[in-house]
Amino acid sequence: MGCRDSDTVIASLCCICFWLGLVVLMPVMVALYSSPSSPYFSVDLFDNQAFNMTSPKNLTIHFHLRLKNRNSAIGLHYPDPIKITFSYFPNVSMMVTLAEYTVDSFYQGNGKTKNVRDFVETNGVPTVLEGTDMVAFRVDLVATYKHKKVGSKRHKVEVGCVVGVNYTTSQKLQTGFIGMAEPGLDSKLKPPPRDDYAGY
Ligand SMILES: *[C@@H]1O[C@H](CO)[C@@H](O)[C@H](O)[C@H]1NC(C)=O
Ligand SMILES: *[C@@H]1O[C@H](CO)[C@@H](O)[C@H](O)[C@H]1NC(C)=O
Ligand SMILES: *[C@@H]1O[C@H](CO)[C@@H](O)[C@H](O)[C@H]1NC(C)=O
Ligand SMILES: *[C@@H]1O[C@H](CO)[C@@H](O)[C@H](O)[C@H]1NC(C)=O
Repeated sequence: MGCRDSDTVIASLCCICFWLGLVVLMPVMVALYSSPSSPYFSVDLFDNQAFNMTSPKNLTIHFHLRLKNRNSAIGLHYPDPIKITFSYFPNVSMMVTLAEYTVDSFYQGNGKTKNVRDFVETNGVPTVLEGTDMVAFRVDLVATYKHKKVGSKRHKVEVGCVVGVNYTTSQKLQTGFIGMAEPGLDSKLKPPPRDDYAGY
């Protein structure tokens, strides 16, 4: 093997290393330096739970909460306890809190999903949404999170969703997991605006 051949071998090796590096590292770099995603939360109320909405006792709400880190290359830290509030709407202008729950601060690895299955006891039973035959439950979540990345700031997320349950049959109107979206608690129903200017 001459000097020329070994040069060629080194050159090809370099070339292979370069492409391997590009192919392997690029997705990681892109994931790290593109803007990271916020976590995604979804909830399944009363999963596998037989319950009777019209029974006169208080209500036990079984729930299955999913907290997903959508970043395939960045870990997430939840520095504060995550607050979950269960409520219902007696009418379209009011929300009544039934129970609260907290998930302790935790660290979540790349692309991981945390499942929280538990239940809360409510004080009293909810009533139907005025003018309908369904109970409109609302689940709200308030959390803070930080990406495991240099210079990452603390973000606050407030999301929620409505879960309708047929009062007569105690059947959910939508089965399975429901994604929690903004607006969250901040959008807590305010009294309807007064119609003082109607007719002008
Ligand atoms: C719920 O309980 C009430 C009173 O105990 C009963 O009349 C009703 O049939 C029950 N409904 C269901 C769906 O089990
Ligand atoms: C909504 O329901 C609450 C509680 O039952 C009641 O105090 C309030 O007056 C109701 N509001 C309207 C606009 O019906
Ligand atoms: C709900 O009712 C059950 C039994 O009926 C009772 O053990 C429990 O303490 C009650 N919970 C609340 C919050 O009142
Ligand atoms: C609730 O169930 C009853 C009885 O099956 C049905 O007549 C009614 O339309 C249902 N309501 C809703 C909002 O799904």
